[in-house]
Amino acid sequence: MREDEVRALELAEEIYRRSSEARRFIEGRAHYTPVDRSSTISSIAGTDVYLKLENLQKTGSFKVRGPLYKIGKLARNGIKGVVAASAGNHAQGVAYAAASYGVKSVIVMPETAPVAKVKATKAYGAEVVLYGEVFDESLRRALEIAEERGFEFIHPFDDLDIMAGNGTIVWEVSEQAGRFDTIIVPVGGGGLISGIVSVARKLMPGVRVIGVESEAAPKFVESLKEGKPVTVEASHSLADGLIAKSPGELTFQIVTHFVDKVVTVDEHDVARAMYLLLERGKILVEGAGAAGVAAIISREVKPRGRTLVVVSGGNADLTSIEKVILVGLAREGRVARITGVVPDRPGQLMGVLDIIARFRCNVVDIIHDRLHPRVSPGMARVTIIFETPDRETVFRILEELRFRGYPFVVD
Ligand SMILES: Cc1ncc(COP(=O)(O)O)c(C=O)c1O
Repeated sequence: MREDEVRALELAEEIYRRSSEARRFIEGRAHYTPVDRSSTISSIAGTDVYLKLENLQKTGSFKVRGPLYKIGKLARNGIKGVVAASAGNHAQGVAYAAASYGVKSVIVMPETAPVAKVKATKAYGAEVVLYGEVFDESLRRALEIAEERGFEFIHPFDDLDIMAGNGTIVWEVSEQAGRFDTIIVPVGGGGLISGIVSVARKLMPGVRVIGVESEAAPKFVESLKEGKPVTVEASHSLADGLIAKSPGELTFQIVTHFVDKVVTVDEHDVARAMYLLLERGKILVEGAGAAGVAAIISREVKPRGRTLVVVSGGNADLTSIEKVILVGLAREGRVARITGVVPDRPGQLMGVLDIIARFRCNVVDIIHDRLHPRVSPGMARVTIIFETPDRETVFRILEELRFRGYPFVVD
């Protein structure tokens, strides 16, 4: 065996060993989340697909597992406190885990962090420090605080205890649903997939583990091509939990040696997966949590045999959910958006709305723009968004509108 193979094997064995210990720390402090078979996704995949629902986990994501183990061990030895940098699920995971052991926590977030996230993290008992415009600046500040106050820094993924905590998912799944042939896992910095593959290769020998990252930050796909960790440009994504610029040093070694492949999904795939899970399964997930399902519906992954998808988190913000729903409904022809130019006179808009109402369609939004540059004076450009049972109804409405002198088109 080559030296790097020996090292990767040692790491995986160590994560496996620690994960069995991690179970005892997590029990009673985190939820034993359900594993459910999804008939919709099974029929799309052409094989049995089960979902491990970490969106129902305490704090809304799997990110509480690693910190519960890591901080639990540190607390046994007595520590002054812990510090982390995050504007996402790691913040809440660390805050919750620290509070559950009575340990003080400081979370550094960028100044631009959404107010809802700041509030949620404070509600779990953390002291929140807003610092820096981008994440890297918050990270630097967190490391300084660790130094200044003698606190332990909790890394979001490149830490054996964090990976071992994540690996407890596989112990639970094997008790709940037996062994799987394929496991599909969302990938950010790689801590989740490293924990999962290290345990799964022991409990489910022969299993294929496949990673899914966002096209907006394809760090593992690029690093695997290069054979060394590389840093990529990261853009904004609906799957913000998957946006890390580079793999961890440890996670890269484990993914390289034990993960079968890593694929990417784009924003449309993620949105479609979120919509599908919500509409068919009544499961609310965030973009990162939907990545595994996105890989199946986009055919980036062809699941073989009994397949488990880790649905890693459910902390979606409500504005992104609203967009995902509207785009999904529009794709299915259940929300329509039509535009036309009408005389800017009392009663004209009413005439248009009356026709839509006669088809029993509910209006979602109206944009009435009389200052539009391409509209002649005395006219107004009107865009109407409405709910509709199907596309056919939209065409019938457009026909009726034209007949009444309102030439509207689908926008
Ligand atoms: C919901 C969710 N899924 C997946 C990930 C990716 O985990 P990792 O960075 O360990 O690969 C994250 C990371 O924050 C997350 O919040």
